Amino acid sequence: MDFTVLTIFPEMFDAFWAHGIIRRALNQGQVTASTVNIRDYAEGRHKMTDDRPYGGGCGMVMKPEPLAAAIEAVRSNSPQALTVLLTPQGRPFDQGLAEELSRENSLIFVCGRYEGVDDRICDNHVDLEISIGDYVLTGGEVAAMAVIDAVTRLLPGVLGNEDSAWQDSFSRDLLEHGHYTRPPEFNGEKVPEVLLSGNHSAIAKWRLEYSLVKTLLKRSDLLKERPLEQSELDILHKWQKEIESIIRSKS
Ligand code: ADE
Repeated sequence: MDFTVLTIFPEMFDAFWAHGIIRRALNQGQVTASTVNIRDYAEGRHKMTDDRPYGGGCGMVMKPEPLAAAIEAVRSNSPQALTVLLTPQGRPFDQGLAEELSRENSLIFVCGRYEGVDDRICDNHVDLEISIGDYVLTGGEVAAMAVIDAVTRLLPGVLGNEDSAWQDSFSRDLLEHGHYTRPPEFNGEKVPEVLLSGNHSAIAKWRLEYSLVKTLLKRSDLLKERPLEQSELDILHKWQKEIESIIRSKS
């Protein structure tokens, strides 16, 4: 996978590329990455990348010429690349979209700043607009990092086996089960017995139950949208009976 990020703050990515799983993926050659300074494509003595909005109003808008020139320069080297603009108006980013993007060979991220980018860029130079949530950031850089991070960990060979199991569980649209490590008792709280038992099928059952109940309590919307397997329905029935018996005993 090749990532190219177009930004007026390329230094923001120096630390990002240099740490954790991204750094390892770069070192192992599963990922290549570069940043392009949009300002390098701006004209004039001041190399302006923004200007006042037509029609008035507050804030500045990113000028189309430097953005178009930067995008065209990058695309000419990588014509198959998908060009993504980070914007609050984009398609909501989720695990499904991360999986789709992970199947591309090459992604170009365009990071807007100020009030946004000139609309003619969105219309003519971008394949996909992505939002990482219903809030407004000061620029697309942090959003691009979130997308690159989520995509990188899905690339073949990037995560070790242990991490992949985690990913499997998330891709089933359930929240993750709880995690514990040593010591077996911390501040009087014990690690659940079953996790120390070495009984792998009992552990898998416990984890599924934990995931389901946590999803029910915190993100019931996820459960409503997704089909349930019989083993999952059995767990929910068990909890339903438990809750009904508590209610009966109090009324
Ligand atoms: N730029 C500003 N806000 C954003 C958001 N929520 N998602 C993606 N890019 C953005």
